[in-house]
Amino acid sequence: MARPKIALIGAGNIGGTLAHLAAVKELGDVVLFDIADGLPQGKALDIAESGPSEGFDAAMSGTSDYADIAGADVCIVTAGVARKPGMSRDDLLGINLKVMKSVGEGIAAHAPDAFVICITNPLDAMVWALREFSGLPHNKVCGMAGVLDSARFAHFLSEEFGVSMRDVTAFVLGGHGDTMVPSVRYSTVAGIPLPDLVEMGWTTQDKLDAIVQRTRDGGAEIVGLLKTGSAYYAPATSAIEMAEAYLKDQKRVLPCAAYCDGELGVKGLYVGVPTVIGKGGVERIVDIKLNKDEQAGFDNSVNAVKGLIEACKGIDGSLA
Ligand code: APR
Repeated sequence: MARPKIALIGAGNIGGTLAHLAAVKELGDVVLFDIADGLPQGKALDIAESGPSEGFDAAMSGTSDYADIAGADVCIVTAGVARKPGMSRDDLLGINLKVMKSVGEGIAAHAPDAFVICITNPLDAMVWALREFSGLPHNKVCGMAGVLDSARFAHFLSEEFGVSMRDVTAFVLGGHGDTMVPSVRYSTVAGIPLPDLVEMGWTTQDKLDAIVQRTRDGGAEIVGLLKTGSAYYAPATSAIEMAEAYLKDQKRVLPCAAYCDGELGVKGLYVGVPTVIGKGGVERIVDIKLNKDEQAGFDNSVNAVKGLIEACKGIDGSLA
């Protein structure tokens, strides 16, 4: 049986890391696409040359021609520009919106049956625009943010509690920006909710509040340290987790930017919600009940996403 085909649109820091991970995990043959001359070909060859030591057989190629992504089962989109220190994700809107137009048209023409995972920021607006430009079904286009934000939250919690990251389940909802909502009530250590752990004296409310804020600022913390770009190892790992859930029909429950049609009180836009990912793409949105404070935080985040979508419509009249 033929290996699945994975097209990576954007062969920069995240794209290259995605390609390496997809190969090492033997998820399928990889096509790296980028407009930068020689970049996708160079990275593809470099990764292919790690095959003999790593022991994978996946084919690796680089291209600047959309025809080469034909028939892809999965497309992961990182094309665009990344943040520099002092920039918010929203500052990228104008440039990356144009990129989403060309990528959406390329995917629609050559890989219309793919499961598409967008990573380009500002995430919730870009995945919405990519879906509009591509015309693919909503359940086949989603955005990677919640898995990453939840992984950051889980990492900080495991350090605070001195327990394995495997035993921490963390959930972050809402848009992938300053207004994201790390859910304290739905995050657990081996099933024990965080508020109970505060009561048990494992941490204090102040420390927990600081971890929640550090999670919200997780991307900016790395941009500040790197100075020349933004995070790429954990973002790539997170998207690969989603791609694997689709390719292997795992029915994973993963938070991602999904198109809501009334779920969690949201209609007609993309925002971070818990979903089930399997062979049907985003097969279900887990319509959890939020308490008053959580709902207020979530609504605030949804409003921020709405503002970005309105800005997109203002820039590109075809989206209005
Ligand atoms: N089509 C294809 N590729 C493009 C296009 C385009 N129209 N425009 C830019 N690119 C490519 C660039 O040539 C570059 O190689 O996208 C790549 C982006 O790579 P990096 O600059 O290394 O950025 P990266 O760290 O991978 O992040 C990509 O993901 O997390 C988000 O905010 C981040 O929006 C950014 C994206």
